[in-house]
Amino acid sequence: MAADRILVTGGAGYIGSHTCKALSQAGYQPVVYDDLSNGHEGAVLWGPLVQGDVRDAERLTKAMSDNRIVGVIHFAGLIEVGRSMHRPDLYWDHNVNGVAAVLSAMRHTGVGRLIFSSTAAVYGTPSTSGLLQETDPLNPINPYGDSKLAGERMIAAHCAAFGLESVALRYFNASGADAEGQIGEAHNPETHLIPLAIEAALAGGRPLTVFGDDFATSDGFCVRDYIHVADLARAHVLALGLDRIDRGFEAMNLGRGVGASVVEVIKAVGAACGRPPVYEVGPRRAGDPPVLVADPSRAAARLGWRPEFDDLQTIIATAVAWRRNRRFGASILPNAA
Ligand SMILES: NC(=O)c1ccc[n+]([C@@H]2O[C@H](COP(=O)([O-])OP(=O)(O)OC[C@H]3O[C@@H](n4cnc5c(N)ncnc54)[C@H](O)[C@@H]3O)[C@@H](O)[C@H]2O)c1
Repeated sequence: MAADRILVTGGAGYIGSHTCKALSQAGYQPVVYDDLSNGHEGAVLWGPLVQGDVRDAERLTKAMSDNRIVGVIHFAGLIEVGRSMHRPDLYWDHNVNGVAAVLSAMRHTGVGRLIFSSTAAVYGTPSTSGLLQETDPLNPINPYGDSKLAGERMIAAHCAAFGLESVALRYFNASGADAEGQIGEAHNPETHLIPLAIEAALAGGRPLTVFGDDFATSDGFCVRDYIHVADLARAHVLALGLDRIDRGFEAMNLGRGVGASVVEVIKAVGAACGRPPVYEVGPRRAGDPPVLVADPSRAAARLGWRPEFDDLQTIIATAVAWRRNRRFGASILPNAA
């Protein structure tokens, strides 16, 4: 019997490529749809690549029917919170029109299930420093979060009206790399803390800038929930296989439920690299909440999902191994020589 084919938009990117590997290992056939604007052809290892823009509903429709697609995982979009403050136009365009085009193509081809990349940014600045639950208020504080929440709402409305089924997975901080070293994080420019800290430790140059040390946290630095990318990938496979989706649309947090501050991450990177990254403290960035940590119990209950990479040091070790032997992606430091 032929494997079920899944269209993976953004499958040449960081989380998308790890999900293609997990899909392939679970017996699915991933078909990547990506414009390679921030992805790598070298990361497309488990199925064909259709090059195209995710806002192009006609091209998506053709890709779905040509490849006899039975489900879609939608990663493609713009991801930098800071840039979204300066170029909200781009974020509303790619992230919202992208979802609209995916939904339109699914309706035209009769593809019934969509797994959507959402984010902790939909919560905005939580009113407590407790674990975030899916039922907590949704109040994004930057255009990136706004565009993702709009995507969720558009999908939920389509599920109710047209009988589609969807799970929105709200990732906290994706981190680490494939444990076998085939793929890893290679953004350009890179804005995520762990790869920047690794680069600062291994390549030196100018110090890493961290944004603010006067947050209301125990050491004054922002606290985030770092979740290994392979654990995220596995959750997508489980969501695709979910028997019944409650009222057609469910949202689930994906995090470890454990926070680490920026300085704790920098220390852990120093330990993994054998050399501490040099850093300096800059002003706070607009749109940065002090603490974002998931309550992942809904994903545990609904998907039977639990993170296998359960400590920060192991997660960082996979990222360091990737940086030492990466197979694609050039040096990406915005703030080092
Ligand atoms: N990385 C994280 O920590 C994180 C956290 C929460 C949510 N997310 C979401 O997960 C998804 C994937 O994130 P990532 O870190 O793998 O990003 P990424 O940039 O590595 O991957 C995104 C992919 O989408 C492609 N793409 C972008 N715009 C496109 C367009 N208009 N048409 C076709 N392809 C396009 C890029 O080429 C890239 O390959 C994104 O939707 C992001 O918002 C990521």
